[in-house]
Amino acid sequence: MKRWTWLVSFLVLFVAVVFLSPTLAGAEKVDVPSGSKACISCHTKKKVGVAAIGEWRNSTHAKEGVGCYDCHQAKKEDPDAFKHYGKYISVIVSPKDCAGCHEKESTQFQNSHHAKGGEILGSLDNFLGEVVEGMPAAVNGCKQCHGSIVKVTEDGKLDPSTWPNTGIGRINPDGSKGSCTACHSRHLFSAKVARRPESCGKCHLGPDHPQKEIYDESKHGIAFYSNVDRMNLDSESWVVGVDYTAAPTCATCHMSATPDMEATHDPGERISWTLRPVVSKHMENWEAKRANMKKVCINCHNPRYVDAFFTQYDLSIDLYNEKFAKPAKEIMAKLREAGKLSPTPFDEKIEWTFFYLWHHEGRRARHGAAMMGPDYVQWHGFFEVAERFYFELVPEAEELLPGVTKEILDRDEHRWIKGISKEERERIKKFYEERYGQ
Ligand code: HEC
Ligand code: HEC
Ligand code: HEC
Ligand code: HEC
Ligand code: HEC
Ligand code: HEC
Ligand code: HEC
Ligand code: HEC
Repeated sequence: MKRWTWLVSFLVLFVAVVFLSPTLAGAEKVDVPSGSKACISCHTKKKVGVAAIGEWRNSTHAKEGVGCYDCHQAKKEDPDAFKHYGKYISVIVSPKDCAGCHEKESTQFQNSHHAKGGEILGSLDNFLGEVVEGMPAAVNGCKQCHGSIVKVTEDGKLDPSTWPNTGIGRINPDGSKGSCTACHSRHLFSAKVARRPESCGKCHLGPDHPQKEIYDESKHGIAFYSNVDRMNLDSESWVVGVDYTAAPTCATCHMSATPDMEATHDPGERISWTLRPVVSKHMENWEAKRANMKKVCINCHNPRYVDAFFTQYDLSIDLYNEKFAKPAKEIMAKLREAGKLSPTPFDEKIEWTFFYLWHHEGRRARHGAAMMGPDYVQWHGFFEVAERFYFELVPEAEELLPGVTKEILDRDEHRWIKGISKEERERIKKFYEERYGQ
């Protein structure tokens, strides 16, 4: 009897090990398309990117019969084509290559600001990265988010000073822009990964655009992380209010579908202000774009609530623009006109002060207001803007050109700095006495 049980247990274990182990290792059994059989068998044998092949096996592409060669194939005359064991291939699979099967996504993406993210050569930030800091800082920093201009060496291989790189606006050897892998990590290429806030957070974080941190601290982020098991992220259809209700992710608000609006690969279709420049401006056609964004919100909130939110948001942008950004810009222009600043950027202290004010702190305040992160609006935002303005920019400007800020500081919104009333002082004093005692 005892021996019998042993034998059965052993057999069960044996069957389990033999048949389930590929699944345990995370590799699904799929039919490898004929054009890609050689790729996979040799790469497996030579141990080149074996885990990447495992990810491909788990992908929708593998299930749909899209193999290595379907994506990596190249024509002999392509600038980055090289002969690889009898076939012409290229390493980069550009948006143009994906367009063969995903034309809509690729066209929307090519028309977006994302695709233009690599065109930053003329910017102040670029001068900062490449010159003030130094080229390797730009290669490993700026360009990993924005995208490099990929160069090809004579043998069709990619120039290591420009690649690896999956920046959002990378300029590819075939002239197309961007990299789909920026959000669809290879070789799984799933919607699921792209729908998660972490995907956007590779780039949208940090002192000058902390969208990820803001989201994480917002009620939306809290609801997402608490209920992620109900988010249905792996579903083919992902319509807010239909396939999930718990929380919006970055993708929900900026890209994914609603019951009456299709998903888009151009997040600009839903953005009314640009919060990037010194002074925020409305985008072209901004009313329509605002209306698109509201179509997302109303699946979870009532229209009056949503309108009220946008009223508060717009007022914060106006406050930043009118009270701090325009005056600061005006002061810098006056100093420049008076010959107090050299034409070289970043060689004077006040230029760094001004940069902090709009590029870091001013953006933080604006992004916090856009995405419900009160800590970023206040303590990482307007608080720092105000300190920078009153206690750095103004004194530094006065030192360079006495009287240059007078007209600005005489305006109503700045008059408090000349002294507050006795009643106001008393009120503050009383507040602390009542809270904390004498
Ligand atoms: C006979 C073996 C073999 C076959 C067949 C093969 N590869 Fe490779 N592949 C390699 C090896 C080895 C490397 C590592 C780098 C090198 O030696 O070129 C490599 C590298 C690569 C690279 C990176 C090249 C670079 O310069 O960075 C890509 C992309 C690639 N293979 C794709 C494919 C695809 C797609 C196929 C099928 C069409 C394929 N390979 C077929 C052996 C093979
Ligand atoms: C859906 C299209 C697609 C399929 C299918 C695909 N690849 Fe790729 N592969 C890409 C993209 C995109 C990149 C990223 C290249 C870049 O932009 O830097 C890449 C990169 C690579 C690289 C170089 C980067 C690295 O991490 O080493 C290798 C090697 C490679 N693929 C091999 C394969 C093999 C082998 C298969 C089949 C199992 C395969 N690919 C299937 C799109 C694809
Ligand atoms: C030979 C055709 C073909 C090529 C080339 C191709 N795909 Fe696909 N892809 C498909 C098919 C078929 C599906 C499944 C149906 C669908 O979702 O459109 C798919 C699905 C997808 C999905 C959704 C998968 C999921 O599980 O959520 C993503 C994301 C994707 N592809 C991205 C890419 C990217 C990025 C490239 C280029 C690097 C690419 N594809 C190249 C045919 C292709
Ligand atoms: C961590 C990723 C990341 C790094 C590193 C990075 N950026 Fe950015 N950059 C972004 C994102 C994301 C935006 C858009 C922010 C937004 O819309 O609020 C942006 C915005 C910009 C803009 C404004 C674009 C416009 O259309 O107005 C410029 C210019 C810029 N970055 C240049 C640079 C330069 C130059 C460097 C290096 C010194 C750099 N960035 C480093 C992610 C990055
Ligand atoms: C900024 C991030 C981002 C980039 C870059 C990106 N995608 Fe997507 N993609 C997404 C998101 C988010 C989804 C999921 C949309 C949804 O909720 O259904 C998605 C979904 C898809 C799907 C599944 C079908 C669908 O619409 O749901 C395909 C196919 C696809 N992307 C192809 C591409 C191709 C091709 C490129 C490059 C031209 C690309 N994507 C670049 C974020 C991105
Ligand atoms: C690889 C880096 C990278 C990733 C990943 C990325 N972005 Fe961006 N994003 C950028 C850069 C850079 C810009 C600024 C482009 C410019 O104006 O030059 C930008 C701009 C934007 C804008 C402003 C667009 C406009 O038209 O005004 C939105 C909204 C946005 N991204 C949302 C997202 C979302 C949502 C995701 C994730 C699904 C995402 N991004 C993933 C780098 C990235
Ligand atoms: C609840 C919806 C919602 C979520 C979730 C959300 N956003 Fe936003 N986002 C907005 C709104 C609203 C704006 C302001 C749009 C406008 O000005 O019309 C905005 C603005 C932006 C901008 C434009 C900033 C600029 O400089 O012009 C970027 C970039 C962005 N969001 C990225 C993200 C990223 C990345 C995430 C996730 C980490 C995210 N958003 C999560 C609603 C959302
Ligand atoms: C998928 C559902 C969903 C979508 C879409 C959504 N929200 Fe929310 N929103 C929530 C949830 C859940 C909360 C948290 C409610 C609570 O505190 O109980 C919330 C809270 C808020 C809050 C209150 C923040 C706080 O700190 O109390 C505001 C304001 C808000 N959302 C505005 C918006 C706007 C504007 C949009 C569209 C750009 C939007 N929401 C899209 C689900 C959503």
